[in-house]
Amino acid sequence: MTASDRRPLRVLSRHEVRQALREEGTLSLSDLAILENADAFLAFGKGPFPENAAGHYPLHLCVGGPLRVNGVERRIAMATEELGIVAGLGRIARTLPSKDGITVQVAKRNRVRGQILFHHVMDAARKVRQIEDYGGVYVRSAHQSWDPMVKHGGGLIGFTPRVILAANGRPTLALDIEADTGESMGANVITRMGDLLAASMAFLVGQVGHTSICTNHRSGWHVVATGAFHMDGVHAFRAASGIVDLQAFAEQDIGRAVTHNKGVLNGISAVATATGQDVRAIEAACHAEASWHGGIRPLTTLTNRSGSTVVGRLELTLPVGTVGGATQEPIAMVCRKLMGVTGSRDLAGIMAAVGLAQNVAALRMLATEGVTDSHRRLRRK
Ligand code: MEV
Repeated sequence: MTASDRRPLRVLSRHEVRQALREEGTLSLSDLAILENADAFLAFGKGPFPENAAGHYPLHLCVGGPLRVNGVERRIAMATEELGIVAGLGRIARTLPSKDGITVQVAKRNRVRGQILFHHVMDAARKVRQIEDYGGVYVRSAHQSWDPMVKHGGGLIGFTPRVILAANGRPTLALDIEADTGESMGANVITRMGDLLAASMAFLVGQVGHTSICTNHRSGWHVVATGAFHMDGVHAFRAASGIVDLQAFAEQDIGRAVTHNKGVLNGISAVATATGQDVRAIEAACHAEASWHGGIRPLTTLTNRSGSTVVGRLELTLPVGTVGGATQEPIAMVCRKLMGVTGSRDLAGIMAAVGLAQNVAALRMLATEGVTDSHRRLRRK
């Protein structure tokens, strides 16, 4: 019997999926034992099991830092397969000023963005003007639909209609919508808001069919992280000048800029994975930020101050939440607890701080011992 002759995996339990893979000879008994053992690594959430689940994929959960963020010392939960990054974070954290550490400024609102698209709209420019004229009515009706969120200070912030002439010459009426989704990362909320808004505008637009979807570009908590890293030891000057040389090169070279940014994401994605975030949304947002002005630029700016100090800055908008989806997995909750996360705004600040620190840690390693020696040293431990 071939795989396509069998019952579809989506109708089977996790155990049955494994047995099916065993019976068809894809997996051996010892393979099944590996999958079964991996289950024990994770606490099980209450949510439904995904289709086709055969087991869990365990990652190391490491406790990095401690890292001082806005003067508060935090342990950092990092789920990653790359162990060098945790060691790197711990070492670079010790170069930060003992009082403040990394300073983060996080916007007051979680501004989540979405798009509603009506394709092939006749007389689109006039309809844009009409939507603008009736804007207040639509916002009021959207507020009624999202009463609980509005009560907590969130809800629809506004929308901007515009016309895009597609490559095929047909006009699309696009509405960029923005909402404060509070503790929620907001992708589903803004998409549903878009559907409701689109339904209320269908008559005016003269069209029922639409697309409503969140955008991962500049959606979420806007964060600026800054820090002064005081390089120590005999290589302090070499490290600091090597870091700014690597920064200058990354500003001119896409090959280096992309890898430079991977170093930032090493930190951000590890925290995002540990805390149950949509890691792809965060990474998509970071890549867009790096390429927004054409080309790819490094996400951080790093300058040298007084020979052995590197001053770093990272500005990002991070789509993160503490409610909904995988954020409710018990292990994600434990990770937020060990970091002392007070809410999604706080988490966004910590993630940006870790991203900046991780980037400086990577560049210091490249400018001094290099990757090969660093890995060798870690393996000796
Ligand atoms: C490896 O995971 C990350 C680095 O490649 C980052 C960088 O090159 O800046 C070391």
